[in-house]
Amino acid sequence: MKKIVILISGRGSNMEAILETARRDQWDSRVVAVISNRPDAKGLETAARYGIPTAVVPSRSYPERASFDAALQQEIDRHAPDLVVLAGFMRILTSGFVEHYAGRLLNIHPSLLPAFPGLDTHARALATGVRFHGATVHFVTAELDVGPIVDQAVVPVLPEDTEESLAARVLEQEHIIYPRAVRDVAEGRLRIVQGRVLPYTSDR
Ligand code: GRF
Repeated sequence: MKKIVILISGRGSNMEAILETARRDQWDSRVVAVISNRPDAKGLETAARYGIPTAVVPSRSYPERASFDAALQQEIDRHAPDLVVLAGFMRILTSGFVEHYAGRLLNIHPSLLPAFPGLDTHARALATGVRFHGATVHFVTAELDVGPIVDQAVVPVLPEDTEESLAARVLEQEHIIYPRAVRDVAEGRLRIVQGRVLPYTSDR
């Protein structure tokens, strides 16, 4: 059984999609803990409802990024996870932390990377006038929103869209692609070859 730890900062709808899919499809892999950097994260209550142990490592209590990351790493590693999943975890991580979890740290970003890394992706997509937008699941590397891409989902941008309507359309897709990607990575179905994520069965 592969062990998964999920990190959140807020609502936790992606976390919930993962927990729900894992339960429905009876995954071999198990979410063993949900950790938040904010004590008021809504997702903590949701995780508890699913019977998942939760913990808070409050980022506000750590003056420096490195000391927070060290405390977070210690809390994560108590569970000896095979995979660490960032699900709306609103922190920039130090390169030491990222390297410690190399190849087993996943993120979901609400844009079609490499377009719109960083924040406010939906507003930027609208302002730019792109016709298509979406979400990307990727491995986390030291550079923000740049690691090897595991999966993407595309949605149309409609003339009447607001930031909220576009965000909702993207989020619906996030809830489909993230659980699938988490399962594939946890169960060892994918490998990274020269920065590209390929299925193990491929001879490419
Ligand atoms: C999602 O849009 C995700 O792509 C981004 O932060 C948001 C988190 O939402 N990284 P939730 O907490 O999973 O509901």
